[in-house]
Amino acid sequence: SADSKICVLGNPGVGKSALVVRFLTNRFIWEYDPTLERVYRHQTLLDEEPTLMEILDTAGYDDSIHQEGNIRWAEGYILVYAINDRLSFEAVATLKQHLDQVKKTSVQCVLVGNKVDLLHERRVTTDEGELLAQEMACAFFETSASDGGEDIPELFYELHRDIKRR
Ligand code: GTP
Ligand code: MG
Repeated sequence: SADSKICVLGNPGVGKSALVVRFLTNRFIWEYDPTLERVYRHQTLLDEEPTLMEILDTAGYDDSIHQEGNIRWAEGYILVYAINDRLSFEAVATLKQHLDQVKKTSVQCVLVGNKVDLLHERRVTTDEGELLAQEMACAFFETSASDGGEDIPELFYELHRDIKRR
């Protein structure tokens, strides 16, 4: 079985699939495909340990009851908003409360402000992201899945390490 189970959550269109695909293949997807959810298995050598991560890419529009199954399945969460989408940022705080409620604990997560390449459209400041991450006691990354995304692997690995530490 997997060493860590990670669920990627956030509003529709914020770039969840683009982040996952960038992490797994180092490529960027331009096409917008409202995802059918899908689990990816990622095998790697991390901190000199053979490591198997399972990553569930969820569909942002799906807030149905079966999302609860996804939440229970996972051990850690990547909470994504887009820096040019205020509503997607506001949705994250609500989402975190929901996760804590379902898991009956303060869940482990990483906060990601995606699409930083769209600077001219920015609606959420870096400070606001950092503040929210502090409130949620989690790491914070601003990323661009389209612009190289050098730091994207690190956010997945950081969460993986947090999961293993607990
Ligand atoms: P759902 O699966 O519907 O919930 O959406 P999603 O969160 O998976 O978003 P997706 O990865 O499909 O990306 C939505 C759109 O935003 C696509 O057209 C992507 O190419 C684009 N996109 C994703 N990440 C970035 C980014 O970092 N910068 C820019 N400019 N566009 C991005
Ligand atoms: Mg998607």
